[in-house]
Amino acid sequence: LSVRAGLIEPDGGKLVDLHVAEPELKKREAASLPRVKLTRIDLQWVHVLSEGWASPLAGFMRESEFLQTLHFNSLRLDDGSFVNMSVPIVLAIGDSQKEMIGASNKVTLVDSDDNPVAILTDIEIYKHPKEERIARTWGTTAPGLPYVEETITNAGNWLIGGDLEVIEPIKYHDGLDRFRLSPVELRQEFERRNADAVFAFQLRNPVHNGHALLMTDTRRRLLEMGYKNPILLLHPLGGYTKADDVPLSWRMKQHEKVLEDGVLDPETTVVSIFPSPMHYAGPTEVQWHAKARINAGANFYIVGRDPAGMGHPIEKRDLYDADHGKKVLSMAPGLERLNILPFRVAAYDQTEGKMAFFDPSRAQDFLFISGTKMRTLAKNKENPPNGFMCPGGWKVLVEYYDSLTPS
Ligand code: ADX
Repeated sequence: LSVRAGLIEPDGGKLVDLHVAEPELKKREAASLPRVKLTRIDLQWVHVLSEGWASPLAGFMRESEFLQTLHFNSLRLDDGSFVNMSVPIVLAIGDSQKEMIGASNKVTLVDSDDNPVAILTDIEIYKHPKEERIARTWGTTAPGLPYVEETITNAGNWLIGGDLEVIEPIKYHDGLDRFRLSPVELRQEFERRNADAVFAFQLRNPVHNGHALLMTDTRRRLLEMGYKNPILLLHPLGGYTKADDVPLSWRMKQHEKVLEDGVLDPETTVVSIFPSPMHYAGPTEVQWHAKARINAGANFYIVGRDPAGMGHPIEKRDLYDADHGKKVLSMAPGLERLNILPFRVAAYDQTEGKMAFFDPSRAQDFLFISGTKMRTLAKNKENPPNGFMCPGGWKVLVEYYDSLTPS
């Protein structure tokens, strides 16, 4: 695989591609091995690993990788250097599955219809220290963490690691596969567009004009720095999200309107889906979000208020300090090559009638429109203040919430 000199090098020097050369041959081998069933979210991780988003990680983590991730938020390579790796990418199995696997050193991973998806080779089975994993990843074991409830609480007591051989590219057949560009494909797209800088914007919410402000301001700064053709990677997260987040298909419709309405410029923007599931693990997770974008060719990363954050599951406050995400990113081991662009919080400036960077000296002029507030407005088919979001984008949200109301 050739990576043009212009784009940032992937972690570990080369992008991992875990797809096998001869799918038919592998399918036959797969039929003879013990089977492990993947959940929907496990399958999303297979997808993430298969395309090299977690490069140089080449499969579900073995214990040494798991421990390095938990304790150091990074992985040590053979040459002694480090890459960032802040969230465990692991596969849980139960006692009976462990017994069934016995002494085999390979297993076949199958989807919910029992179709073989991949072979995991050179396997290692080790204890799943759930409490420790949760405490170290989220900084709390308070009940109600969405990813934890969905994937850890009822998961097996063992983790199985190994190298992945993925039989066929993972597809979702939801009409959005064409937006799921792999890191290789994104790099090709950036080269095709002659990008001399790539700046990534991770998001899991509809784009309002405050988000847009971060992106247009970044472009302006990059042009000022002398870049001639900075390209924006608008990169909505496409894997698991919690129940009250706007589903991917609706967000994609909303993002399309944001480009159509001219809030962002299609000429200099690549819209693509990041296949990772969402942890809501704040400063720990935002490192993963940034690291994965290095592998996709981004050398600038935008970070604003409370990235990958959410409300505390049982207390009336945010789970993380809203400024810690950007502080941690600017210091994170293994992310030294990535230019972090930290931003202040944007809010609605009532004197100007538009989204602007919050100015504490005239706090009373600003209106914070929270996710909850936005949802309430859209549900009641009310409009947000003019200049909060483009009309086309807002209409999509109203339609979405309308679709939820039982008729
Ligand atoms: S995230 O989970 O993907 O981080 P979200 O989609 O809300 O959540 O945010 C995407 C990015 O925009 C993050 O970098 C976040 O910090 C930033 N952001 C969101 N809202 C604001 C805001 N009002 N002001 C500044 N930055 C923001």
